[in-house]
Amino acid sequence: MKSHLKVCSTDLAGYPYQNPHYLQTRKRINYLVDRYLSVEILSDRLFDTIDQFENPCPRRWELIDWHGIVPSQIVGVQPELFCRIIAGAAEIEAPISAYAKESWEYLQHFHPQMARFLGGTFDDNGAVLELGVWQKEERQHSPTFKKIYNVLTGEKLFTIPNSVQGYCSTGDLRQDVYNHMISRISTEWGAIAVYLWLMAHSTGTLQQAIAQPLQDEVNHLTKFWGFCRWAFSESYFHQLKGSTNNLISLLKHHQYERTHGKDILSSANISRAVELSFIFTRVMVRLRRWNWELSPSTLLHLYGNPPKFS
Ligand SMILES: [Fe+2]
Ligand SMILES: [Fe+2]
Repeated sequence: MKSHLKVCSTDLAGYPYQNPHYLQTRKRINYLVDRYLSVEILSDRLFDTIDQFENPCPRRWELIDWHGIVPSQIVGVQPELFCRIIAGAAEIEAPISAYAKESWEYLQHFHPQMARFLGGTFDDNGAVLELGVWQKEERQHSPTFKKIYNVLTGEKLFTIPNSVQGYCSTGDLRQDVYNHMISRISTEWGAIAVYLWLMAHSTGTLQQAIAQPLQDEVNHLTKFWGFCRWAFSESYFHQLKGSTNNLISLLKHHQYERTHGKDILSSANISRAVELSFIFTRVMVRLRRWNWELSPSTLLHLYGNPPKFS
């Protein structure tokens, strides 16, 4: 019994099955959702917003033991597919500096503190004075996944950055910010789902490395979610509620479509698509459960008086 517990403690997804079947993989996914997206953790990350507005500071990462990562830590899936998903993960939010500037442009007049959290600050000539916390956290992700890919395959990964549109005004600021934040939420949500899938299919040092960006994404998702609840009350939630299909269509309309994410949503990898759908649903159920806890007074405390639109 003692040695069994010891083995479990090295696997962040619970019991380390050697070759898990679908139900065992689901068990691992549920374990990860409970571990990294508990209602307590989600609330803690949301309340951290106050500190981040006053004293911006990126979340600290645990050290990654790069020499400890080996291909045998891939669990229950072909290493080729696992590495393709790692390659896709490296492209999800790249190029981050352009995304950060884009978010700043949308938010600068709407909520300057949130604009600073995402995009930092600029001088009158547009030169960067300070990077946003979101950008500082995100800019570690792509290099991390590239390095994991390199360690697992021995090959260098060349990523194709997404094209970033920048601020496109329709003349309706509320609608513009709404659409922009929904796309940010869907990207964070998609990243969380993909990283959870990778963690359910890995163990040891490899899994611990992926846990670092995962926790950043949970941090971002809670802050963006809370912000949208504050700014748009329940109306935005109705757009996100519903089935997994809803989220997948959101993702397909976003940049993730052009990454390897479509590989695991295609019928060629039907069992992987089923697992990913299960993760989307689990995360959604957890967020909806947490959403009940968000009171208007809490959101007022975090973000100030809700914006008024004529
Ligand atoms: Fe990221
Ligand atoms: Fe993110």
